[in-house]
Amino acid sequence: MIPIARPIIGDEEKQAVLEVLDSGMIACGAVTTKFEEEFAAYIGAMHGIATNNGTTALETALRALGAGPGVKVLTTPFSFIASTNAIVYTGATPVFVDIDANTFNISPESIEAKLKEDPEIRILLIVHLFGQPCDMDAIMPLVKKHGLLLVEDCAQAHGAMWNGRKAGSFGDAACFSFYPTKNMTTSEGGIVLTSDSETARRCRMIINHGMERRYYHDDIGYNYRMTNMAAAIGRCQLKKLDGWNEKRRANAALYLEALAGETGVTLPGCPDKAFHVYHQYTIKAPADKRGGLIQKLEERGVGYGVFYPLSIPEQACYGGKYENAQTPVTDAVKKEVLSIPVHPGLTAEDAAQVAKAIREYCEASR
Ligand SMILES: Cc1ncc(COP(=O)(O)O)c(C=O)c1O
Repeated sequence: MIPIARPIIGDEEKQAVLEVLDSGMIACGAVTTKFEEEFAAYIGAMHGIATNNGTTALETALRALGAGPGVKVLTTPFSFIASTNAIVYTGATPVFVDIDANTFNISPESIEAKLKEDPEIRILLIVHLFGQPCDMDAIMPLVKKHGLLLVEDCAQAHGAMWNGRKAGSFGDAACFSFYPTKNMTTSEGGIVLTSDSETARRCRMIINHGMERRYYHDDIGYNYRMTNMAAAIGRCQLKKLDGWNEKRRANAALYLEALAGETGVTLPGCPDKAFHVYHQYTIKAPADKRGGLIQKLEERGVGYGVFYPLSIPEQACYGGKYENAQTPVTDAVKKEVLSIPVHPGLTAEDAAQVAKAIREYCEASR
């Protein structure tokens, strides 16, 4: 079976965790601080505030930027649910606009139309989905023109770039997840990046029980801190990230070579200015044929994922509250998407086996 994801943990990571365990300083501490500095420098931000996961990183960034009851946050309906849950936790209201069918990312045209219709929107939360950066040439002028605060959800985009600039260096804050299936991991973990020292100060307080001076709590905060053990893994993984991303891109290139011209599936689009790091390699098959393709992959021992089968507003947990969102592209795409293995542990033979299974399906469905 070729898995859809496989975290790679080397001897360095094991050694680094043992060193932390031996030190006795196993909660948040100096190793976490080092990781914060190194990861922020890698992306090109001034400050890093490491957290216990990507969801709490998003919630922390949003709270630090003033999200709360009465605040509207514009976002994408096509993402892992955490990007919207983080908005909801703060008491703010998510407002959804549609995506681009080619890149799966939030559509700048839809953002612009919604901002005209609803000038009360204060914050824009974009998601660089599947490892592909959003169109920042189109988004940044809108952010400036409408005086928005921008949060980038980079949970799937470690090392991705738009026009040579890293995802996570554009917004007022950016958030990453280090969950094991991501392009790099800390086991569970996350980080908020910002180049604004006041935002950084607020984030630090939020994740630390609203405390700057020991046992003086100015706000009701949380314990969202990252441990030294997680950070030790992250420091080792960060050194390998660029190499792994190149391997993901090489695997994507193999798929392009093997599947270009197949009419039964649509390969992921990638604008020239985007440096895609293929957290997922997501193809589309016609809605009525996707089941057949899935069956073929199962027969051939190929792991896959449907990211995501529902749009966020229609998830049962929201009880229909946001179902008035008009997102026809998302509604079509969710029935067509299928992600196939692209992780750095995939060999060229594995990729050839996956491509062969897809070609077989294409031939059979003609
Ligand atoms: C787009 C997106 N946002 C946020 C998250 C939340 O990250 P975590 O699982 O670390 O809480 C994830 C990860 O699963 C994600 O894919």
